[in-house]
Amino acid sequence: DLDCFNLSERSGFVLEQPEIDLPEYYRVWMDLASNITPLIQSHQLRVLVDQMPVLSPYNLKGHRELRLAHLALGFLTMGYVWQEGQHLPAKTLPKSLALPYSLVSQRLGLPPILTYADSVLANWRLKDPTGAMEIGNLETLFSFPGGESCQGFFLVSLLVEKAASAGIKASRYVCPYLCITHTSNVCLSCHVHPVFLHVLFSGHVDPTSFHGILRIFFSGWRDNPMLPDGLLYEGVGVKPIMLSGGSAAQSPSIQCFDALLGICHEDHAASFLRRMREYMLPSHRQLIETLSSGSPLRDFVLSCSRPSLCINYDSCVSALVNLRSYHLSVVARYITIPGHRARAMGCPFNGVCSALDDTGTGGSNTLPFLKSIRDSTRRALIAQP
Ligand code: ALA
Repeated sequence: DLDCFNLSERSGFVLEQPEIDLPEYYRVWMDLASNITPLIQSHQLRVLVDQMPVLSPYNLKGHRELRLAHLALGFLTMGYVWQEGQHLPAKTLPKSLALPYSLVSQRLGLPPILTYADSVLANWRLKDPTGAMEIGNLETLFSFPGGESCQGFFLVSLLVEKAASAGIKASRYVCPYLCITHTSNVCLSCHVHPVFLHVLFSGHVDPTSFHGILRIFFSGWRDNPMLPDGLLYEGVGVKPIMLSGGSAAQSPSIQCFDALLGICHEDHAASFLRRMREYMLPSHRQLIETLSSGSPLRDFVLSCSRPSLCINYDSCVSALVNLRSYHLSVVARYITIPGHRARAMGCPFNGVCSALDDTGTGGSNTLPFLKSIRDSTRRALIAQP
């Protein structure tokens, strides 16, 4: 049943109709998070967060209010840490933010850092509520410096999740735990087509703004030389903790497709992907784990010796290979090339030239990681090219 995994019939892992405001008691969180770009640019955010009262999270009711609170506090946290650029991160998060954030996080089963479940899955609203969920009719609830490119980055990712929802729904017909009903019709839809993505990305996200302005705000405090010891959450613990920044590896859809299709990644990549599941909602993580613990779909397809089934299976695997190849080209365009250009220009934008050009904000060694998972996906093809 989809409900027990916090999945929506219409939009898969995307949170349907996210809450857009919190009870009046939390006004200060919403005011600061809604104005985060000017507050970062005028260097006022840290001072204002330092002055916030320590609010109790217990006036938050229900899943959607908690998601909005986690999203707003995640934006405040990233803005607080990176307000002065990558070379002057805050090493301590003040109690006014750290304590409620960590309590809200515990209630949701998410870590106290901005995750994909926040910035993509719960960070949207329809401009015209009667209109369609398409790029022109969508806006984010919160957005970092980087203007349209920031909105575009979150919204394109959101549409990827939305497009993936048909494939996720199909999983219930094929998940061995949920009974195989229509073996002759097993056909997964991997609608996340690179051409569709390319048009959206190119039109809505500018590589220079992404690399030079926006990207730092997705960075975390694990595997990050700028915060080698992590971040101290004042009032929560006595030692700093290490948490990874945002990563597409936190997308539950992609990891579900891997689990469903029985794709095996090599050790290092597999352990990074498994670790990123800790940054997903527990129910989403559970679905991936349920799918991976069943008997592999690939074995079933092979055992049926039905050519049409093999062809369908392979077309799903190919769609994932193509998506991962496209992801490699996005990294080249949005990280590698602007990184070279920035270095050649003597590092403008607060000197954003760093080790981060070879490392994803989630901490992976970007290009080798993406190549490895693309190649292991290709190896799952039944008809090897
Ligand atoms: N993970 C993405 C990056 O590294 C956001 O830029």
